[in-house]
Amino acid sequence: MEFQTLLVSIEKNTALIKLNRPDKLNALSKQVFDDLNSCVDWIEGNDDIGCAILTGEGKAFAAGADIKELNRSNSLSLGRQFSEYGSRVMEKIFNLNKPVIAAVNGFALGGGCELAMSCHMRYASEKAKFGQPEVNLGIIPGYGGTQRLTKLIGFGKALEMNLTGDMINSDEAKRLGLVNDIYSPESLITEVQKICDNINSKAPLAVSAILESMKSSLETGYRDGLALESRKFGEICATEDFYEGTMAFLEKREAVFKGS
Ligand code: COA
Repeated sequence: MEFQTLLVSIEKNTALIKLNRPDKLNALSKQVFDDLNSCVDWIEGNDDIGCAILTGEGKAFAAGADIKELNRSNSLSLGRQFSEYGSRVMEKIFNLNKPVIAAVNGFALGGGCELAMSCHMRYASEKAKFGQPEVNLGIIPGYGGTQRLTKLIGFGKALEMNLTGDMINSDEAKRLGLVNDIYSPESLITEVQKICDNINSKAPLAVSAILESMKSSLETGYRDGLALESRKFGEICATEDFYEGTMAFLEKREAVFKGS
């Protein structure tokens, strides 16, 4: 699959998506969002892909919305459209029924931090830097930085990051729960690929049911969430992979999952 601003490859059922505007620190232009939008459709429709890794070429994951394009959005309606389009693409990433993991290799600022937060999990290189510097430009986060960051690290610290625009390093991001773990820059992709390999060895329908149930916990009430979990549990108990997984345990052998 070819994209103007993304480098895409597949290794062992994992799609590696690289933002590829290194000379602009992978700033999120309209073209990048168009490409991400199509890329999500491609991932969704490709049965060979179990997980996806999102990372950046060069020294940045993404240094935010493209400020040159943003600068032209100087009216209420243009500004709102600017925010809504990026937000919609990020929501589409979050709504994917396959795990998408951000491998944050460098700067993840503004829209870059928001893009990482629209992935289901985040791992960082020792060189990664996170921040919501929009306030320095006289604006506010527009792709979920006032919402997702709060859910991930709590109101007080999220407010501090949004109001000061200060960057945090990967140690602080891990301490706050923004990233799950930190790796050396050289081993980041290999380590995240190992996590994907592990996930890809599980029953795909169970993986997507876990993802769907857990995502619902972010917006559904507790009881509705439990009801959804039970519904999903029932659906999975009717799959061949459920039977295979439980029989394999009872017969003391490795399960062979088929995704059905
Ligand atoms: N939008 C458009 N272009 C960007 C960009 C962005 N968000 N972030 C960086 N770039 C471009 C720079 O304009 C520069 O392009 P040029 O070489 O044509 O002048 C190139 O990327 C390299 O950036 P530079 O600032 O020279 O790198 P640096 O290492 O000195 O600084 C940062 C790195 C991340 C601290 C700095 O680029 C920065 O503050 N970027 C903006 C971050 C931001 O405010 N994001 C929120 C946007 S809403």
